[in-house]
Amino acid sequence: MCGIVGFTGSADALPVLLSGLKRLEYRGYDSAGIAVFDGDDIRVVKTRGRISELENKINELSGFSSQCGIGHTRWATHGEPTDENSHPHLSGDGRIAVVHNGIIENYAELRARLIKRGYTFRSETDTEVIAHLLDYYYSGDILAALSKVTTKLRGSYALGVLCADRPGEIIAARLDSPLIVGLGEGENFIASDIPAFLAHTRDYYTVDDGEIICLSKDSVTVYNSDLEPVEKERMTVNWSVEAAEKGGYEHFMLKEINEQPKAVRDTVSPRLENGRIALDTDIPEELLKSLSRIHIIACGSAYHTGTVAKYVIESLAKIPVEVDLASEFRYREPIVSERDLCIVISQSGETADTLAAMREAKRRGVRTLAIINVVGSTIAREADFVLYTWAGPEIAVATTKAYSTQLVMLYMLAARLAVARGHISPDEEKTLAAEISLIPEKIDKVIGNTDTLSYLASRFHNHKDIFFLGRGVDYAAGLEGSLKLKEISYIRSEAYAAGELKHGTIALIQNDTLVVAIATQKALAEKMVSNIREVKARGACVLTIASEDTRDALAAVSDHLFTVPACFEKFSPSLTVPAMQIFAYYIAVARGCSIDKPRNLAKSVTVE
Ligand code: G6P
Repeated sequence: MCGIVGFTGSADALPVLLSGLKRLEYRGYDSAGIAVFDGDDIRVVKTRGRISELENKINELSGFSSQCGIGHTRWATHGEPTDENSHPHLSGDGRIAVVHNGIIENYAELRARLIKRGYTFRSETDTEVIAHLLDYYYSGDILAALSKVTTKLRGSYALGVLCADRPGEIIAARLDSPLIVGLGEGENFIASDIPAFLAHTRDYYTVDDGEIICLSKDSVTVYNSDLEPVEKERMTVNWSVEAAEKGGYEHFMLKEINEQPKAVRDTVSPRLENGRIALDTDIPEELLKSLSRIHIIACGSAYHTGTVAKYVIESLAKIPVEVDLASEFRYREPIVSERDLCIVISQSGETADTLAAMREAKRRGVRTLAIINVVGSTIAREADFVLYTWAGPEIAVATTKAYSTQLVMLYMLAARLAVARGHISPDEEKTLAAEISLIPEKIDKVIGNTDTLSYLASRFHNHKDIFFLGRGVDYAAGLEGSLKLKEISYIRSEAYAAGELKHGTIALIQNDTLVVAIATQKALAEKMVSNIREVKARGACVLTIASEDTRDALAAVSDHLFTVPACFEKFSPSLTVPAMQIFAYYIAVARGCSIDKPRNLAKSVTVE
């Protein structure tokens, strides 16, 4: 999704903006641009393509320097990725420049009205209406103009604005799209995400919906929508710059796969007290006891952790769990009651659909608990209760360590619910807590076995279709294994509940189709053996991911076998999924794919 960075200070703005944009590359983009003050004028450089192309264009210019500007990476929504559609967009006289993340839903109507008033459009974007509207309402006070313009816009936006009459200043605003303000010494920043300014400062303000900000190098003033100043709480991020860098790994994805033992340990350890689970949220014990139903809402991989959690929570805490894609929940008129709890899962805490679904749940009177990785993100701020995963910054588009930390967070929650409701004893809770605390070293063993997985990847990287089969939590793990493969290698792949395959999909199994069978549960091992025989009878080649406890039952029917350590069976996705992440990673490497920035995907999807 689009990325915004803005800088005002004493240093040369161009390198600061370019390095900020590079740190936002992970969000996914197809064009990039900057606008900077050049004396009393605004100069814009923009291009379709990569930031390196923008850099080349900037290097061709000489003879000016600037200490203030805004930059943008665009992920096309309205209009193709072209130079004209790239941001920043200018007012007709070039005196106002705008970068925008989000979608203006009523842009066609606004555009038509502006054209009637004599405005000429140079692009097909929704954003350009903002530049012209600012010009229309501007009569010497850009803050007043922006405040007026925001009342005309429907949709979502994070905006960075330069006005030639206010050199050295950046004006910004947000509604339902991420924006933060970085607070430096004699320099200040706006950005879509922390890594954009992490090399300069760790202090920041979050920006709330409806707020308008004015930044100069020495001051940051935040206003509400009536332009009254508001006090903000200064926040400090505990990530280091190194944490957001590759650190010698070829790809962020590989680095983040290898960071999983630490990320899981950091998420679990602070929540264990005398061997028992102590969750750092003020969610009332009474609520845990009296819950009638849980709704889990999320998108993408976070949704897949919810599918694992359904099995875990239902079996341990005996509460019915519904898992919904956020984009479905928000429009399906869900039946909820005040005795329900809605668990919202998101790495970024900014996913537009997840945020909207959570707001819908709140509107219907359901209490919300968010499991979030980015501290202070919008979902974290709006949820009734929050539990943070401590995965650190995740840069690769395909999530790995955030997924793994979400899983353990959900296991801990399931165990807490089970104790609160009297379904397990404190001793059984301790046994589960011990199982959870062993997960990091078991993940370490799985990822230490990359030779086997990379060999298997080299053997299968040319396959066109790959199926993932499993039952129960193994099926839920297969959903994530299949998604990882699709996301980064572009191989078509489907995950199926093993018992369901014969109801249609088995028609697609033919000679040499690769089937990844996940089989970590003893009670279901024989069933999986039968399902493997079914696909083998149709010519499939089977790679089985088994546990130390099930491998003997599966070895004879499998063409290839990868074994993960034994664990409490319902927690096995914590071990099988890292194996599938590595498998997908090496397949994508063998196919020469762009691992960290897969085509068409964005890390943080902040539009609907
Ligand atoms: C995007 C990413 C996925 C991610 C999903 C949800 O589609 O590409 O990797 O799982 O968003 O993101 P969230 O930040 O809400 O976990």
